[in-house]
Amino acid sequence: MTLLITGGCGFIGSNFVRYWLEHHPEDRVVVYDKLTYAGREENLAGLWDRPTLSLVRGDIADLDAVRAACRENDVRLIVNFAAETHVDQSILGPLVFTETNVRGTHVLLEVARELGLRLHHISTDEVYGHIPDGHSSVETDPLAPRSPYAASKAAADQLVQAYHITYGLPVTITRGANNVGTYQYPEKAVPLFSTNAILGEPLPVYGDGKQMRDYAHVYDHCTGIEAVLLRGGVGEVYNVGTGREMTNLEMVDIVLRTLGKDHSLVRHVADRPGHDRRYSMNVDKLRALGWEPRYDPRQAVAEAARWYAENRAWWEPIRNGEFREYYDRQYAERLAGNAAR
Ligand code: NAD
Ligand code: TYD
Repeated sequence: MTLLITGGCGFIGSNFVRYWLEHHPEDRVVVYDKLTYAGREENLAGLWDRPTLSLVRGDIADLDAVRAACRENDVRLIVNFAAETHVDQSILGPLVFTETNVRGTHVLLEVARELGLRLHHISTDEVYGHIPDGHSSVETDPLAPRSPYAASKAAADQLVQAYHITYGLPVTITRGANNVGTYQYPEKAVPLFSTNAILGEPLPVYGDGKQMRDYAHVYDHCTGIEAVLLRGGVGEVYNVGTGREMTNLEMVDIVLRTLGKDHSLVRHVADRPGHDRRYSMNVDKLRALGWEPRYDPRQAVAEAARWYAENRAWWEPIRNGEFREYYDRQYAERLAGNAAR
């Protein structure tokens, strides 16, 4: 079988491509990726000479290009990782989030409908919005997104479900918790804090740092998606996480201790507007497919921090390149102000 993996050069997509090639060597994988700042061919270094892997550079919002990539490669299944993914970027420049995450997903659905393909869509726990203490989201909970990123992902989920209901399109959705692991672009919290700590730069913690996240290992996300692709019910949604949360300050503590750095690097800075206090998901539905996470979130964060210490050659060119402009825009004023507002 041939899979079209959109966003396969990004963080989770590249980990999934690596996993799939290793565990399903009989399949062909076509990575379809626009190669934005977050999509990097080097995330799949060492694999490009495999006859079962190829790359098509293209935009998921380009219907003709997606159709051609599917037709020419006899694709049977689309797995959609492609997205604009960072909440802070969605606050600075939201329109591209609608273009890629909503319109792009819609285009994939149209091509899947026209060519009779199955589509698996990668979503996020952020579509449920802020979750009060004592509750963990289940798949049937109403969606209540609160950032432009989360709203665009929720809209995409609803289109995917509408195509199943209206056209009978064979779809599945997974909603992942915050992932950590190898090749995560340093705009996200764990790689940002790890690389800043290694460089001896301050760690900008938004607000009081008591927000709660489930920091799941990307490996467990990959096996969760695999379980749904192989055994999931058509038309169904599955949460993927560990079901265990920690505060951002606990995460920072693990990063600093793993890297042997001092807590004096921590700076509480002005909060993110609309910052969701807590995400928490119930993952029993995925467990019922025989899946179990391999990693504890504490272990996952520590392992990710260690990877950044051991792979400076991957992230230093990023940090010294276009990332700098974004970093200054997002943090210069916050770090100059220094205290939580
Ligand atoms: P990422 O930002 O690291 O990578 C995104 C990839 O999509 C890049 O390769 C980029 O080039 C590609 N892309 C962007 N726009 C495109 C377009 N218009 N056409 C084709 N390709 C395009 O993202 P990630 O963290 O790997 O996230 C992958 C998916 O998982 C996303 O759908 C995201 O919403 C979801 N998700 C992420 C997390 C997380 O913690 N990172 C958690 C849950 C769900
Ligand atoms: P992030 O990795 O951006 O994921 P998300 O917002 O999608 O959960 O952030 C994880 C948590 O870390 C979130 O509560 C926001 C917080 N955070 C900071 O405190 N400082 C930062 O510089 C960043 C990027 C995030």
